[in-house]
Amino acid sequence: MYQVFINGYGIIGSRLATAITKDKSINLIGIAKYSADEKTQEAINKGYKVFVPRKLIKEFQNKKYDISGSIEDAINQSDLVIDASTEGNGIKNKRKYYQPLKKKAIFQGGEDRYGKNSVANIIHNSRVNYENTIDKDFVIQGSCNVTGMGKIIQPLIESYDKLIKRFDVVLVRRWADLEDKKEVRDSIVWDKDPHHQDDLKDFIPTANLYVDALKVPSRMMHLHQMTVRFVGRPPSKDDILDNFKNEFGVAILNNAKGTGDIRKKAAELKFDHGDTSMVHIHSELIKIQEDTLKISYSDDQTGMVIPENYMLIESMLLKRRRSDAIRQTDKIFSMKKKKRLLESAFQN
Ligand SMILES: NC(=O)c1ccc[n+]([C@@H]2O[C@H](COP(=O)([O-])OP(=O)(O)OC[C@H]3O[C@@H](n4cnc5c(N)ncnc54)[C@H](OP(=O)(O)O)[C@@H]3O)[C@@H](O)[C@H]2O)c1
Repeated sequence: MYQVFINGYGIIGSRLATAITKDKSINLIGIAKYSADEKTQEAINKGYKVFVPRKLIKEFQNKKYDISGSIEDAINQSDLVIDASTEGNGIKNKRKYYQPLKKKAIFQGGEDRYGKNSVANIIHNSRVNYENTIDKDFVIQGSCNVTGMGKIIQPLIESYDKLIKRFDVVLVRRWADLEDKKEVRDSIVWDKDPHHQDDLKDFIPTANLYVDALKVPSRMMHLHQMTVRFVGRPPSKDDILDNFKNEFGVAILNNAKGTGDIRKKAAELKFDHGDTSMVHIHSELIKIQEDTLKISYSDDQTGMVIPENYMLIESMLLKRRRSDAIRQTDKIFSMKKKKRLLESAFQN
């Protein structure tokens, strides 16, 4: 049985643990904790083995946490590590553990793709380049915003190709996640150099794309406002929506009042961690004028990348074909069922 370890147990790591334990063909060795805080006991109570840096074992034990060993012990046992650390630690972990111990690793979107701290030479998006990850030892899973953009841009390019002149996207980004302790400040903050544009072009190099990013005081998802310029008049709204009817991980909603409505609905429907794990096109916001299509969709920041990381396990460890990996991912995440439930909840 393949052995997987999750290095980092925060917002992303805790969700990955929930998903991986549902797959009885993979063994989750455990999770890593770096702070001896109450999340350690929470993980133990959920049945996960907890591994900590060797020099902190005493500190955790003094607080009466039942620790299963050092992070190095866990990585030694693993076939693949999912690095879910705070941004920037991925490269340190790669140099300290994954490279010397010759372990495959998946990194998250907060890590660098380029420059001296680059952790991998590919950013994954399961809709676009799943097959290219099969033989890789190191892969970055695109961030939630980059993943969401890929899920919308790729089907449009496949359908309309040279009829599209350019994409302009304004990312309206949430400030913090619901579980985050950090304060949400009352300000609209701009980003003078958003990474999302280059990240997307890493896997869709032909996209003529320009991205602006604003951070707003909300904890409830991201909203992307995308403007697509066509050569001549764009296809009709119905034609545009047809592209997404059967897209995995894309729901078409009508008349949600805002991102909070969708998050609330996901909690009401008892989706794991209150996540939808997808993007939601807001059909009432689709506008067509002259050569311009406007399409807006919300992007579940915390859930979006979890099935994507799982797809990477299917690829890097199990070497599954994409169609089989999608079927397996649907089994674990019930993506199609969630899409149906959300679409029927927001249909008028
Ligand atoms: N949050 C999102 O919505 C979201 C969405 C997509 C992608 N991402 C990306 O996913 C990554 C993780 O984000 P997050 O939101 O889950 O962060 P987070 O909640 O702050 O969790 C990060 C975890 O990393 C652990 N950690 C500290 N030092 C570490 C080290 N040297 N090696 C491994 N782990 C270490 C921390 O452990 P302790 O708690 O024990 O100190 C903490 O639990 C980032 O790259 C982020 O950009 C986040």
